[in-house]
Amino acid sequence: MTEKVNNIVVLISGAGSNMAALIKTAQQENWDGLLGARVVAVISNKPGAEGLALAQALGVATQVLDHKDFESRAAFDAALQTLIDAHQPALVVLAGFMRILTPDFVAHYAGRMVNIHPSLLPAFTGLNTHQRAIDAGCLEAGATVHLVTADLDHGQILAQAVVTVLPGDSAETLADRVLVQEHLIYPQAIKALLQLL
Ligand code: GAR
Repeated sequence: MTEKVNNIVVLISGAGSNMAALIKTAQQENWDGLLGARVVAVISNKPGAEGLALAQALGVATQVLDHKDFESRAAFDAALQTLIDAHQPALVVLAGFMRILTPDFVAHYAGRMVNIHPSLLPAFTGLNTHQRAIDAGCLEAGATVHLVTADLDHGQILAQAVVTVLPGDSAETLADRVLVQEHLIYPQAIKALLQLL
């Protein structure tokens, strides 16, 4: 057993399948006993995010902070920071959290905020990664776990999964196969990072 408390706060905007994979892996591998690590809260910027019900079904408390209720990006990020910090997190996990973050917010969590991005970074930062990989004729696509820095999708790479692009792949079929790999590499990259904290 460990004396450490490694609270994890997860931020989502949508389906939350990476969030669910993380919670399930942490539960199955007894991260609580081994690392003092548990997902203590899931926060969504979208009130209707599907992942909220998923988190609740897995026994994790959820909170919603609707970005539309704020006049500026800075005001939203400041409120989000207050909400997150109430949980005293060792790690903040972005799991399909589709917001550009302000430099102040990113600096506050430097070295302890991670993201998963659906491409083999540094290729294809930003959106529509799978279609762009197909259009570029890539033979391989994938996903990247990285530390979050102020430069979008450019932080230190912690893990990658490579997925072969098949003839006839659409963005959807490729995304489905990449997502399976995301669910494997993200929890393990987070576990490795927790062991270093
Ligand atoms: C995942 O594919 C993730 O890599 C991507 O959104 C999806 C979220 O799915 N993230 C980004 O595009 C971040 N720029 P999920 O809500 O089911 O985890």
